[in-house]
Amino acid sequence: MATINKSRAAWLQGPSAKCEDVTPAPLPPWRLVLLGAPGVGKGTQAELLTARLGACHLSTGDVFRAAGKTPECDQSPAMKDALGYMRRGELVPDSTVWEMVRERSGCLHCAGGFILDGFPRTLGQAESLQGLMEEEGLSLTAVVNYDLPASEIVARLGGRRTCEKCKAVYHVTERPPKWEGKCDRCEGKLFQREDDRPESIKVRLEAYEKSTAPLISFYEKLDLLSPVAAVGTPEEILERTFPALESRRARQWAQASWVAVENHR
Ligand code: AP5
Repeated sequence: MATINKSRAAWLQGPSAKCEDVTPAPLPPWRLVLLGAPGVGKGTQAELLTARLGACHLSTGDVFRAAGKTPECDQSPAMKDALGYMRRGELVPDSTVWEMVRERSGCLHCAGGFILDGFPRTLGQAESLQGLMEEEGLSLTAVVNYDLPASEIVARLGGRRTCEKCKAVYHVTERPPKWEGKCDRCEGKLFQREDDRPESIKVRLEAYEKSTAPLISFYEKLDLLSPVAAVGTPEEILERTFPALESRRARQWAQASWVAVENHR
């Protein structure tokens, strides 16, 4: 298994930052996109998948939140705007998101693979990603779509707490830390996200229905979609996700070998 890229430096701070050495995966790396409504558990699953697959967790929300921690005088006007959109629960404009992802496109070549969480989120972003990956000779292994009833989503978001240092995610009742208010992993302070207030949650769920849900059929048409029910414990969901990914990868290999044989005839 590849060394887990815990720091995610090049993703969180931009391409001038250097990640820890990442050992290449022995098999072709996993290149995944996680889809699903806000609060469905994408970040939680991304952490578990990272631990199992060694692929790097690339969350666009984490990049914006990291930028929000820099002094205001160092924030670009586009970043200041982006933080305002986030606070209200609205989507950040495609142009800002794409500029930020494009700047970090080196992360798509990570030898350990990647798990994109929170990107793409609109059809425009999905088309841009598809175009970039084709240009760079890369392809996605799978797109996992997590599904959960809205009432459970609201309960998950309302109880969420996040570590301000390592970004680990907890829930006050479902996944509590060992010590209240403190991260189990790095002892960082836990905080409640500004966009987890009820008025922002409502806006985020509406933005998901309008802009992100159409990506399900986009990736279905590309034969990349793996639907997974997001009910049960995080570990149960992981055990449901993993076989779906394995069978998809096995199918891709079988198709690639068949094409190679045909090309040599
Ligand atoms: P982002 O950070 O991506 O947030 P999100 O997509 O709204 O997703 P969340 O992080 O809220 O939820 P999650 O699905 O990761 O759930 P989690 O694992 O934390 O984006 C934030 C904002 O940034 C956006 O609103 C937008 O403004 C902007 N943005 C980012 N990317 C953008 C883009 N591409 N385009 C435009 N704008 C963009 O779990 C939630 C809670 O549930 C936790 O407390 C967890 O412990 C708990 N939990 C998880 N699994 C379970 C389980 N199985 N059982 C019980 N509890 C569970």
